[in-house]
Amino acid sequence: MVAAHMTTIGIIGAGHIGSQVARKAVELGYDVVISNSRGPETLADLVAELGAKARAATPAEAAAAGDFAVVTVPLKNYKDIPVEPLAGKIVIDTNNYYWERDGRIPALDNGEATTSGLLQEHLPESKVAKGFNHIMASDITTDGTPTGSEDRRALATASDYPEAAELVTRLYDEFGFDTVNIGLLEDSWRVERDRPAYVVRQNAQELKDNLAMATRTV
Ligand SMILES: NC(=O)c1ccc[n+]([C@@H]2O[C@H](COP(=O)([O-])OP(=O)(O)OC[C@H]3O[C@@H](n4cnc5c(N)ncnc54)[C@H](OP(=O)(O)O)[C@@H]3O)[C@@H](O)[C@H]2O)c1
Repeated sequence: MVAAHMTTIGIIGAGHIGSQVARKAVELGYDVVISNSRGPETLADLVAELGAKARAATPAEAAAAGDFAVVTVPLKNYKDIPVEPLAGKIVIDTNNYYWERDGRIPALDNGEATTSGLLQEHLPESKVAKGFNHIMASDITTDGTPTGSEDRRALATASDYPEAAELVTRLYDEFGFDTVNIGLLEDSWRVERDRPAYVVRQNAQELKDNLAMATRTV
């Protein structure tokens, strides 16, 4: 278990995914500090809904407050993520590349980089792990089932830091999901947009099969 009690998650991005991660985390007993681009006052309704274990802050404050962090903003804005307050911390990256929204990023188009690899480059002192990138936001609070459930939904992670992948694995389990660890970030393209494993509901074996089936270009 991640020992939710006394653990604070700093969340950068309070949209579909950020708000859903916050809801489930609060339910599990985590404290959350959540942020967006427009300022904490714009998050009053969400924080009121989340209750006493949540507060709104700036991205830098959320990053500083978190024992670990979740980055969940449109990929085009990843360079805005505060670097210094995340140094030494595990950072869970939910971001996906939608060129229609994010603009063309040649290193991704060419298959030379991965989305989570870009965030890791931006946060060189942090330990980035991929998480929650291939589940619809609404399913985060509804699709989880207890450990050992038959046909339990599985989600993928990847990180260059084993302790970061381990934290995601424990968190996924608390949220109600099994984990398939892809390995290093350089292999995390296997669960990026439009690959077979992307967003469909899969148990661990199905997810492994879909990851193995992926090709570098889509
Ligand atoms: N929606 C899904 O089901 C889903 C599933 C898996 C992965 N994802 C990926 O996860 C990421 C987030 O998706 P989403 O659907 O939650 O997006 P969203 O609903 O558009 O929310 C984005 C959030 O990021 C905040 N933000 C934008 N720029 C920021 C910045 N520079 N600093 C701090 N916060 C910033 C926005 O704040 P403001 O509103 O104040 O600008 C907003 O709260 C995306 O990369 C997406 O592709 C989405």
